Amino acid sequence: MPQNAPSVALQALTEWWEEMGVDIDHTELRALSAQTTPQQTPAKPEAAQAQSGDVAPAPRRRNKSKSLHDWIMEAESLAAAANDLPSLKAAIESYEGCDLKKLSNKTVVYDGTLDAPVMVLGEGPGGQEDRIGLPFVGKAGQLLDKMLTAINLDRKTNTFISNVNYWRPPGNRNPEAEELAVCRPFVNRMIDLAQPKVIIVAGGVAAKSLLDTKTGIMRLRGSERPFETPAGTRVPIFPMFHPAYLLRRPQDKSRAWRDLLLVQSRLAEMGIDL
Ligand code: URA
Repeated sequence: MPQNAPSVALQALTEWWEEMGVDIDHTELRALSAQTTPQQTPAKPEAAQAQSGDVAPAPRRRNKSKSLHDWIMEAESLAAAANDLPSLKAAIESYEGCDLKKLSNKTVVYDGTLDAPVMVLGEGPGGQEDRIGLPFVGKAGQLLDKMLTAINLDRKTNTFISNVNYWRPPGNRNPEAEELAVCRPFVNRMIDLAQPKVIIVAGGVAAKSLLDTKTGIMRLRGSERPFETPAGTRVPIFPMFHPAYLLRRPQDKSRAWRDLLLVQSRLAEMGIDL
């Protein structure tokens, strides 16, 4: 059956967005295309739809069967019980304390080399990651891989890649404070188990969350920041622009390059040749 005009336009628009680094949820897109025919009136804004009862408003917070404190405690005990990275991955997959899980297809935990000297932490999965189940596999991930390759880093030999949140937020919004808080015990444990020599943090959301600061990425990047997990793992953090931002602002790639050179020289100082 030929596609109708709105769905062709929608597809063209979202392909263009994807080109520019926006992660598109193709499941949502298919549902939207199915709803929209030339005869139908345009979709109502979300708030109006929710009011009229057409669609349930997307849940934005934790599973309310426990308090936030209790969900964090549960994350801490699951994380503490994991003695290696694969068991931690299984623990995160079994965890029900983040409602983003209900809205996503996959729990996206990590990719790369388990005993790598370099860990990269991003903000959370986008559309492609949610479909495939691995971090940084969309357009931004492809740019990240190229940037890492420029200083001899890659997933197969010396780099471990994860995020500070394991489930895709709807519409690729930023993860909220509570969503980050329930994931944090797993992030800390991941750092304790992986024992990276340095952590590259991609983007302001992840950098601000890990460093517990309101300072933006423009000021955080460009230098090394000390970081310590509650269990005492100390590792320098190198905040860097998110590759999705660099796709939109390629003129800032030279600053990202300087940040990568900083990582490379810190590793050399530690006696790690790439
Ligand atoms: N952006 C992120 O921060 N992480 C991913 O895994 C993908 C896109």
